[in-house]
Amino acid sequence: MKFFIDTANLAQIKEAQDLGILDGVTTNPSLMAKEGITGRDNILKHYVDICNIVDGDVSAEVIATDFEGMVKEGEQLASLHQQIVVKIPVIKEGIKAIKYFTDNGIKTNCTLVFSAGQALLAAKAGATYVSPFIGRLDDISSDGLNLIADIRLIYDNYGYETQILAASVRHSMHIIDCAKLGADVMTGPLLSIVGLLKHPLTDLGLAQFLADYNKGN
Ligand code: G3P
Repeated sequence: MKFFIDTANLAQIKEAQDLGILDGVTTNPSLMAKEGITGRDNILKHYVDICNIVDGDVSAEVIATDFEGMVKEGEQLASLHQQIVVKIPVIKEGIKAIKYFTDNGIKTNCTLVFSAGQALLAAKAGATYVSPFIGRLDDISSDGLNLIADIRLIYDNYGYETQILAASVRHSMHIIDCAKLGADVMTGPLLSIVGLLKHPLTDLGLAQFLADYNKGN
């Protein structure tokens, strides 16, 4: 399973990269704004800064909602750095744009996916990644993990190569459940990644080992 971090915070991206387990980064306009990154030039520069920290794919989202606009913007984003993946919303024009980028060898991440039908169309268009937002489904008492299971089943039925990128991950159990269901990638906050390490018996056991070692020294 690939681990992406879902943030535009450079310090957190670096911390995850230093852990040695980071495969990529996802961002969106809201995450950029949260870090105070506004204005087209600053946003483009920030994408390059992120690419210079990590080794893997970095999703950069288009703002345009029409086909021509998405193509123009996506090509500009893709030209920033070879690690950039163009992130495109799952709307009609977006599906057309994903097909265009697929045909032109540019990686895409189809975002704002909330149904199996949307994920099926993203795969048909050849998206590199599809991003079902599981936390936002849970927020409205719909089961986000069921969506991951449905997409996995559909993609496996037909051998679609689009990678399921579980997004809107909110906590460590989301990561474990997505891994059980066969999501190819998860993207979440640093806390949810580090949370995977936490176990009181590990802490107790380590404290005991150190105490016992120190008895003889
Ligand atoms: O990767 C999608 C993500 O940024 C949305 O997360 O927590 O705003 O639902 P959230």
